[in-house]
Amino acid sequence: MSSLQLVFPLVLIFNLIFIIQHYSCDAQDLKRCRFDAIYQLGDSISDTGNSIVEIPQAYHARFPYGQTINKATGRPSDGFLMIDYIAQSAGLPLLEPYENPNSSFSHGVDFSVAGVTASTVKTLIKWHIPLPYSNNSLSVQVKWLKKHLSTFCNVKKDCHRKLKSALFMVGTIGANDYDFAFFQGKSIEEVKKVMVPRVIQTIKTAIQKVIDYGAFRVVVPGIFQLGCTPSLLTAFSSNNSVYDAHGCLKDYNDFFMYHNNHLQVALQKIRKKNPHVRIIYGDIYGALQWVLDNLSNLGFKSFKKSCCGIGGKFNFSPSLKKMCGAHGVPICSNPKEHVFWDGGHFSHQASKYLSKWLIKDILPKLHCST
Ligand SMILES: *[C@@H]1O[C@H](CO)[C@@H](O)[C@H](O)[C@H]1NC(C)=O
Ligand SMILES: *[C@@H]1O[C@H](CO)[C@@H](O)[C@H](O)[C@H]1NC(C)=O
Ligand SMILES: *[C@@H]1O[C@H](CO)[C@@H](O)[C@H](O)[C@H]1NC(C)=O
Ligand SMILES: *[C@@H]1O[C@H](CO)[C@@H](O)[C@H](O)[C@H]1NC(C)=O
Repeated sequence: MSSLQLVFPLVLIFNLIFIIQHYSCDAQDLKRCRFDAIYQLGDSISDTGNSIVEIPQAYHARFPYGQTINKATGRPSDGFLMIDYIAQSAGLPLLEPYENPNSSFSHGVDFSVAGVTASTVKTLIKWHIPLPYSNNSLSVQVKWLKKHLSTFCNVKKDCHRKLKSALFMVGTIGANDYDFAFFQGKSIEEVKKVMVPRVIQTIKTAIQKVIDYGAFRVVVPGIFQLGCTPSLLTAFSSNNSVYDAHGCLKDYNDFFMYHNNHLQVALQKIRKKNPHVRIIYGDIYGALQWVLDNLSNLGFKSFKKSCCGIGGKFNFSPSLKKMCGAHGVPICSNPKEHVFWDGGHFSHQASKYLSKWLIKDILPKLHCST
């Protein structure tokens, strides 16, 4: 009895120390890499305000988007995105959107645009997939990057020197290519066969270009478990669905893992070709798995239901009039308890934990000297 009483508080204290070290230890942050800039390419997962310059009337241009940080910036969340936490961890100011003429680019640029695909418009047309709201796909963003870099370096050697301490993030990208195809009614098998090799090739080409422009450190995030999002769960749950341990769509999540596996094979090839460059896979799938495995420890009460939304089992309806941001659509009382803010995007709180896991995972692979 008395030994039990002794052991219990000890275990508690040990756990507490572990948690404190795990969550606040400075050795875990990106400052030790001394990055002087971050360049981000991608889709909505990292869009800090480009798409609302293209479409000012978009819901994510105004509240309740941004309510947790008291500012609607065009980020598709109630607050910050993973890239914001990454910039903070590196000790840099938040990245500003390339398309906004008011932005300043002293420590990098965000080229990401919500809704874009990896594939070009031409390829989407060939596949009979409806065109996205924005045509600024990965190859367009790579051109923007080239144009931007030409403002401060010109010959290759000069660029290599000036970008020595820059971090390049290529992705998340490709998720929309697949999503649009699935919503169009294409089967997982068909998408695997026809689209995946082409999407991977497109991402590979973009990474090689970024390296040719002078990048030394490139992080390439994969695609997370979209089969857990309120939007896919609403669209593709049926009586034939197979669910995983967390109640997500197993076939779809397996598909996204299939993409990630092929992406990692591609990265291995790029590494062989560019041995002087650090090319790191950003395991967002692993990060979300960790969050899902520790939901209640992290203070989450709900993960398949959007915080902002209405309808169905997952608090989501695909109609424009019932989406987050539309008139009269309710918001949950505590966004911190939700993994998903809307039908397809993480909450401020989820992004915080995902980025924490991601930073801890990539830091040793970046080989930054202290
Ligand atoms: C840039 O700033 C001006 C002046 O504050 C403002 O009127 C304009 O809407 C801003 N542009 C964008 C795209 O945010
Ligand atoms: C995207 O490209 C297609 C085909 O070239 C064009 O019809 C469409 O208007 C473009 N969309 C936007 C938003 O620019
Ligand atoms: C499963 O089938 C029942 C009875 O036919 C139906 O009411 C229900 O909506 C179906 N569930 C899904 C997720 O399709
Ligand atoms: C997260 O979950 C894993 C697997 O269940 C467990 O081993 C780990 O201790 C948990 N971590 C935290 C911080 O709760």
